[in-house]
Amino acid sequence: MNTDLFQHRGPLAIITLDNPPVNSLGHALRQRTVTALEAAQADASVCAVVLTGNDKAFCAGADVSEFGTPLQRAEPVLATVLAKVEACRKPVVAAISGVALGGGLELALACHSRVALENAKLGLPEILLGLIPGSGGTQRLPRLVGVDTALAMMLSGQDQTARQLVDSGLLDDVVSQDLIEAACARAISLADELAVNKTPLPRARDRQLDPTTTRARLADERAKLTPRQQLQPAYTALLDALQAATLPLDEGLQRERELFLQLQASTQSQALRHQFFAEREATKLPAKLSATPRPLQTVAIIGAGTMGAGIAICALDAGLAVILLEQDSAALQRGQQRVSDHYQGRVTAGKMKASLAAANEARLTPTIDWAQLSHADLVIEAVFEDLAVKQEVFRKIDQHARAGAVLATNTSYLDVDAIANATTRPQDVLGLHFFSPANVMKLLEVVRGAQSSPDVLATGMELGKKLKKLPVLTGNAFGFIGNRIYNAYRKQCEFMLEDGAWPEDVDSALQAFGFAMGPFAVADLSGLDIAWRMRKSQAASRDPRERYVSILDQLCEQGRLGRKTGAGYYNYVDGKKSRVTDAVVHDIIAQASQHRGIVRHPLSAAQIQRRAMLAMVNEAALLLAEGVASRASDIDVVLVQGYGFPRWEGGPVFWARQQERAALENDLRTLASEAGRGFVLADLSILLD
Ligand code: NAI
Repeated sequence: MNTDLFQHRGPLAIITLDNPPVNSLGHALRQRTVTALEAAQADASVCAVVLTGNDKAFCAGADVSEFGTPLQRAEPVLATVLAKVEACRKPVVAAISGVALGGGLELALACHSRVALENAKLGLPEILLGLIPGSGGTQRLPRLVGVDTALAMMLSGQDQTARQLVDSGLLDDVVSQDLIEAACARAISLADELAVNKTPLPRARDRQLDPTTTRARLADERAKLTPRQQLQPAYTALLDALQAATLPLDEGLQRERELFLQLQASTQSQALRHQFFAEREATKLPAKLSATPRPLQTVAIIGAGTMGAGIAICALDAGLAVILLEQDSAALQRGQQRVSDHYQGRVTAGKMKASLAAANEARLTPTIDWAQLSHADLVIEAVFEDLAVKQEVFRKIDQHARAGAVLATNTSYLDVDAIANATTRPQDVLGLHFFSPANVMKLLEVVRGAQSSPDVLATGMELGKKLKKLPVLTGNAFGFIGNRIYNAYRKQCEFMLEDGAWPEDVDSALQAFGFAMGPFAVADLSGLDIAWRMRKSQAASRDPRERYVSILDQLCEQGRLGRKTGAGYYNYVDGKKSRVTDAVVHDIIAQASQHRGIVRHPLSAAQIQRRAMLAMVNEAALLLAEGVASRASDIDVVLVQGYGFPRWEGGPVFWARQQERAALENDLRTLASEAGRGFVLADLSILLD
């Protein structure tokens, strides 16, 4: 018998899970674990078993790459392994270090006792993939820790440390060192109890939840599900599964399994798994661009406004030294204040230790002296969005930055090459497009200029990873990936206003689709003047025969610049947005329709959603055809991470692939003909074949 996971230690069997790096429970490991367990059971010299992993992971759960493949269903499935652990006549103690996540934690729950290192991380993150735990997690966890803690862990999907869970009932012992020794002591004590006092082995299955209080608690939670959670079937399924935890365990397990399988087949879960893999993929540069990143210790940021200060904070949080440069002392003072207010806020809210905040701030060098730039490995420019200003700034950077330093612009729309060519070293220049708030948003577009060298791009990607962001490579085209698609979407939404919808119709339809906010509420929040300024700058080059919706310009002309002026598409009283737009806005919109000779017809939510999606899909296909995006899945990552696209819909490309193709192409042709001149109809085969 192959017992390669099994070692004797006195009267104990130590079974060490061994599937590097994180002991994911693929078929081979499941098989080997059962074999080792059977060997321990059959071995008369063994009185108890300690099941453990390595420093990094007790076990990180199911092998996601097996999902949907025959291997996932091949015996022994995880449920069989767990049943064998639970039914073992000798005590089985889980010794947990590193992570115990998903199926890994379910394995520990099936053991008779659990001992953990204090910094071990435990959690059931299935909800983040649109699933629920499928091997007893929803049944055994509440039996051990109660419904409240189980709900909190499973609804959030977030892990917690053993230290945080010390009193939860999940762990029998939490130690700061000597994990195996502690687990062995626990195993011996259970074996003695069994032998001497005939004390039955403690099993989660033998505990019961009170049906009445559980039902009431879950009804409460059901009523609290947010609209976005209600769009994702996993949340309701989780509550249903917990309800089944009041039944005898085997019935509960069966119900959990049914729910799990339904979810696994759902579009939402497929979409979330698609995002999971798309995000992993996005951070890798295509093979032809692979290079070693340049050294990265000190970052200089030019401009300490909204973006500059935010970028400085995330660089400080990542342990980098930061030089923050402004044009004058007053602006510098304001920028520095932004950074220290931020840290003060985190400390006051109890989210950061004062000592760590102080250490981070100590790595900040505020300055108005350009000579300081010579210390930087990477310079990030975040000054006003104006080509001439940025070119002037890059000429200065060129004078002061050391040879080999990487030079980046945080421009949202401007031509990175036009900026790079203001220097004598365009090969060292790239775009690093952060999103606001820069210390919160995970997306980072890494923009490749015509001459950006591969190691400069590799350094941009490396910075993204250091800052715990999701860097995505994009070509240098107007709006890069994200703003270009968002512009096409917003334009289509403006067409819908002229065609017969009101802003609240469009916003509520897109919120019902799952967007965090509708486009007009977003526009009000960011300020209409940004778009207005850009439209004015493009006016001279715009083809007068293009369909152009002037509603936003008219709102701005009336001083309605959005939330900051108390009115935009909507009105704002004490910061609260009105539910519908007012008569002034309706008049402007109705006149715009009339001006274009359109007889207004109301649009249904489904029509609005479909037109908005079609516009995004069309632009996605164009971006891919132009090589601005190097992978279709990168587009989905950008929209989900940067633009509030519902993660459980997977992104515009994933969405397109779920549609009936002929209908999709047909509807897109209609959309193009209605948009008229200026709308470039894409060939969808690049996305769909
Ligand atoms: P901001 O107006 O808040 O800050 C710009 C800062 O640059 C000001 O503090 C100004 O004093 C400083 N500055 C201007 N000229 C300078 C010079 N010659 N030398 C040194 N400092 C100078 O602007 P914000 O919003 O931070 O935007 C900065 C850049 O980031 C723009 O290119 C913008 O398009 C881009 N961006 C903005 C986003 C946003 O949501 N605000 C999102 C993504 C990118």
